Amino acid sequence: MDRFYVTTPIYYVNGAPHLGHAYTTVLADALARHHRQRGRAVRFVTGTDEHGLKVQRAAEALGMAPKELADQNAGRFEALFRRLGLSHDRFIRTTDADHVATALGLLERLIAAGDVYLGAYEGWYAAADEAFYEEDEVADGRAKESGAAVEWVREESYFFRLGRYQEALLAWYAQDPAPILPESRRNEVQRFVEGGLRDLSISRTTFSWGVPWPGDPRHVLYVWVDALTNYLTAAGGLEAAASEGWWPADLQLIGKDILRFHAVYWPAFLLSAGLPLPRRILTHGWWTAPSGEKQSKSKGNVVDVDLLLDRYPLDAFRFFLFRDKPVAGDGSFSEERLLARCNAELADNLGNLVNRCLRMLERYRGGVVPAVEAGTHLQDEALRQSLREAAEGIAAAMEACDLMAASTRFISLSGELNLYVNDTAPWALAKAGDASRLDQVLCQSLEGIRQLAVLAYAFMPASSLAILGALGEPVDGPPTWESLSAGGLPAGRVLSAPPILFPKLDPEVLGLAAGKDGDEDADKGAAG
Ligand code: MSP
Repeated sequence: MDRFYVTTPIYYVNGAPHLGHAYTTVLADALARHHRQRGRAVRFVTGTDEHGLKVQRAAEALGMAPKELADQNAGRFEALFRRLGLSHDRFIRTTDADHVATALGLLERLIAAGDVYLGAYEGWYAAADEAFYEEDEVADGRAKESGAAVEWVREESYFFRLGRYQEALLAWYAQDPAPILPESRRNEVQRFVEGGLRDLSISRTTFSWGVPWPGDPRHVLYVWVDALTNYLTAAGGLEAAASEGWWPADLQLIGKDILRFHAVYWPAFLLSAGLPLPRRILTHGWWTAPSGEKQSKSKGNVVDVDLLLDRYPLDAFRFFLFRDKPVAGDGSFSEERLLARCNAELADNLGNLVNRCLRMLERYRGGVVPAVEAGTHLQDEALRQSLREAAEGIAAAMEACDLMAASTRFISLSGELNLYVNDTAPWALAKAGDASRLDQVLCQSLEGIRQLAVLAYAFMPASSLAILGALGEPVDGPPTWESLSAGGLPAGRVLSAPPILFPKLDPEVLGLAAGKDGDEDADKGAAG
């Protein structure tokens, strides 16, 4: 059976989850759901990164033990992910016992490969990034790229012979299909590696919150060695990784700030351990604050996901994340745009479509699916072709992890279905007494909605199942891609009243200016 193993980064527990964390994880969820629909065995893992100086310091500042803070914040991530309806198979924590064992197992392999030696580290370290920086990457006491404060550290340290893997990494980047996406990111790491690789400090002695170094407890394992190994733990552990386990991952989603760790250090560790490399690492861009600035706690411009979920339907929030920003690029978060899309695309377009089709069936046929002869009406043919093409387009976009293209194609298909209803005008057919054409149009519309619901599943799982439920379709698992070509609803089935999918939201009630910042595009396809 085809398999699909998708990972997200694991999140630091020094603070509460925010929009950025929700974003990567919701992306992974949509892809996992899509691959399940395609009949693949899927493993989707997310979790928390709990060791390291950053977490230790945050705990100290709060007068807590690091593990206490980790438990508290891991709980907040888990709660948010539950609220987001995510379908992960495991929430991994780096303090889990099986993970610590895997991290130590990996280290043992690096040592056995002759890639680890004891030396001394002197250089710039940013606790906020848990990263070492070169002299030319630092200016005015800060890492140029992330802006994090750096400190000069001098300590005994174990090193990993990263330099040994330069050629192997460059050869890997050049492989086809490309393992590092998008191409601009591949070029970025390639340039970095071409510039030469210094050995990497992989232990620390100045704090204690980490996995103790085997046989030398003055040291703890560098948090990134620990953290990256979670992908193996979650795949079934080191031994299983090479045989019956889930490794290598088919897709590792990461944000642009952690590219170097995933595209340079991680594959080098795997090469050293004799393990296969991930098939694809996809880097996504960032959501900035509405002003376009980086979100930061100190500026108080962090987008609070819980607050948004109090105000908007979950599926609308999910859909917005895909629809409003290309995966690879950055985008500013705008609640006005969320509201505009909610109303124009989800309430007026999709919600209205489902509502009007089910209401018409109720009104003209007592809610019972009529029996029809397969028609060859041009309008019906055109719609069937649109449905087929949209499904193909969405599948291709999902393979390419282009959630924006997929969700855009989806909503324009909903618009086409609305136009079909407008153009065939069932109300006029009813008035004119054209019963057989009316039956055809009702059935074709319902079949359109059924397929639309199957296509909606990855983006908006609850709405997808609500529509399918109203159509009397099975809702005990992901609607399969195969079911797209299963044909129409059986004649004689009694359908339910339309579900309430997306209530129209009032900008005034929400304290937002109507229309402000709304994408004009959001009106496209709205009909009825
Ligand atoms: N713990 C490390 C990852 C270890 S993976 C083996 C880490 N944690 S993090 O909590 O700081 O960030 C996790 C992810 O959230 C990163 O991929 C980062 O890019 C992403 N985001 C953080 N802020 C973001 C936005 N504002 N927008 C989108 N994603 C952002 O790094």
